[in-house]
Amino acid sequence: MEKLTVQTEFMTDTAEGLSSRPKYLLSKYFYDDKGSNIFQDIMQMPEYYLTDCEQEILSLYKDEITNHFNNGSSPFDLIELGAGDGSKTKTILKHMVSQSVKFNYQPFDISKLTNNELEQSLNNELPELPVFPKTGDFFQLLKKQNGHAAIRKVILFLGSNIGNFSDDELHLFFTRLKEFTSPGDKLFIGFDLKKSPKIIRKAYDDPHGHTRKFNLNLLHRLNNELGADFNIDKFEQHTEYDPASGEVKSYLISMEEQVVYIKALKEQYELKQWEPIFMELSRKFDAESLENLAKEYDFIVEQNFTDLRNFFVDSLWIRK
Ligand SMILES: C[S@@+](CC[C@H](N)C(=O)[O-])C[C@H]1O[C@@H](n2cnc3c(N)ncnc32)[C@H](O)[C@@H]1O
Repeated sequence: MEKLTVQTEFMTDTAEGLSSRPKYLLSKYFYDDKGSNIFQDIMQMPEYYLTDCEQEILSLYKDEITNHFNNGSSPFDLIELGAGDGSKTKTILKHMVSQSVKFNYQPFDISKLTNNELEQSLNNELPELPVFPKTGDFFQLLKKQNGHAAIRKVILFLGSNIGNFSDDELHLFFTRLKEFTSPGDKLFIGFDLKKSPKIIRKAYDDPHGHTRKFNLNLLHRLNNELGADFNIDKFEQHTEYDPASGEVKSYLISMEEQVVYIKALKEQYELKQWEPIFMELSRKFDAESLENLAKEYDFIVEQNFTDLRNFFVDSLWIRK
């Protein structure tokens, strides 16, 4: 039943996106099994500095971060939204387990494969840690959850996943988080910071072609799951960074005029030559915008942890 709802949403979102001007597809659909694997390749590229920066922060400050999370040693739920392969999170998990911190780990991810693999690897590497994975869209999961559970919550949102949200999604996300949390609960969010455009551009337009493959995989997914007939070879990937807004925008551009029929939607969509499909936003932040965001949604910034190059910040917030 749940699978049906997810598939219906995929259809509705696709129909809406391809009927809009400009056309768009939602980046949360990148993460089928193949897309999740390609994303792991992206994370391992040297150009994708975000992984190394956040790993450095978690390694350097694991003691301090643990003390903040443990706050008086009462047990807590550690809830991670969009946990992915959890490779960076494991640094903190291992440290907390070694310090006998009392917590449950609840990774949420839209990809079942990713969740299963994370659960299995944690069962092997940290058998004493209670792990309760959930699969689905974290916007839905945040809505469904009881916001006032018996024990306190620490919520992780790493990898600058937050940068993928439009203004509306950002508002919805923090509004739901505000309802989901109680005073004293904590948020630990990874924000990628503004920096030299040269460095940012390389991370999203890489020489290995992983980002291109990641974008095109969504068209493959539409072909396989919704019976679309996208001619994948007729698209090129284009990325641009606007240093004023801090927005990286990723597009697939149709190199030829084409008409795409999507069987599951019983609908055809015309693409003009050089028409773009907007695929993903990856927003970059500055210190001031973080403060303002926290204030707007009733959180206080407790501490900012940055890497040695000041490229990335993991910001620890406490709910007022
Ligand atoms: C940019 S990756 C970050 C992964 C991990 N947090 C890290 O820092 O390495 C985004 C992750 O969030 C998941 N994801 C994306 N949109 C989601 C959504 N709406 N609901 C749940 N998971 C989502 C993807 O499957 C993927 O694992």
